[in-house]
Amino acid sequence: MSGPNTSFDPKQVSALGAESVDAVVAEALTAIAGATNLTELKDVRLAHAGDRSPLALANREIGALPPAAKADAGKRMGIARGQIKDALDAREADLQALRDAQVLNEETVDVTLPVDRSPMGGRHPLTTLMERICDVFIAMGYDVAEGPEVEADWVNFDALNVPPDHPARTMQDTFYVESPDSGVVLRTQTSPIQIRAMLDRDVPIYVVAPGRVFRTDELDATHTPVFHQVEGLAVDEGLTMADLKGTLDHFAQEMFGAGIRTRLRPSYFPFTEPSAEIDLQCFVCRGESIGNSDKPCRTCGSEGWIEWGGCGMVNPRVLTAVGIDSSRYRGFAFGMGIERTLMFRNGVTDMRDMVEGDVRFTRAFGLES
Ligand code: DAH
Repeated sequence: MSGPNTSFDPKQVSALGAESVDAVVAEALTAIAGATNLTELKDVRLAHAGDRSPLALANREIGALPPAAKADAGKRMGIARGQIKDALDAREADLQALRDAQVLNEETVDVTLPVDRSPMGGRHPLTTLMERICDVFIAMGYDVAEGPEVEADWVNFDALNVPPDHPARTMQDTFYVESPDSGVVLRTQTSPIQIRAMLDRDVPIYVVAPGRVFRTDELDATHTPVFHQVEGLAVDEGLTMADLKGTLDHFAQEMFGAGIRTRLRPSYFPFTEPSAEIDLQCFVCRGESIGNSDKPCRTCGSEGWIEWGGCGMVNPRVLTAVGIDSSRYRGFAFGMGIERTLMFRNGVTDMRDMVEGDVRFTRAFGLES
């Protein structure tokens, strides 16, 4: 039969004795005083006032005491718990004040410092590159020429000896402004500026013409439907392929640094005869990856050369189309992609970065590039 516990053995519930309770309180007070920050105090609170703290465990034993001893033990426990709680709360208040003072000190903002109210953007690297290219040619005595982006197809194609059945004229490549027989296109290349320059100016002609061009390509890492080219044209007496090569060599050195080599590779363009592709020596491996399987080059595919643009001697038919005496004058011309040039020059690997307009991309080039 259960009943009041008259024969209580003080040893069994010694945790409730005055001495042990005082010891527990003393230990708790020492721990509380030793906590140097709020996190430490949290642990102390758990250890000395939590559900599994010595006092909480001892408290559970009260039920085992004879009725006479219960009140006494209960009072002792209450006082002890009150002492610990008060000490915890007081320490917490102190530590909080300490923390607040520290935060105020560490996070001080000097409101009197001058601020940059209008952060500076950056000029688009394509713009600065086009200006730089113009500077290179202006220094050689060239003029900068321009032409419209909405162009007559006669200027964009016919005058450049691109016949009506040429595949480049199909709707797949060309944006027609209205219908294909409207005769108006978004220029697919900067070469029509050659035609306008020859119609507008007297020979000798030396012009460079950077500009925006359009083709029906999807936007991806290496294509964009709107991109930029730079066109160069020289028409004078006695010009030869050697003049073309010398000019392009100089241009390449100015773009990619002294010592970069170029080569001309036979090609075909309707408006030049003969025509060539201009290749740059790979600026990463400098040709050392050719036939060297130990050191493959991802930039040039271990070819040693990278295609930069097209060029050639102006086809006499083009000179004739614009009324220049092709028996007396000769011309050379070239055209390359500005995006491609920027990619090589500055290690831009994704064309989309150039069109998305994220100021972080532009800013990386600074105001000058
Ligand atoms: N217009 C040509 C293209 O878009 C590039 C080009 C090739 C321009 C040869 C030239 C040239 O002036 O002579 O592919």
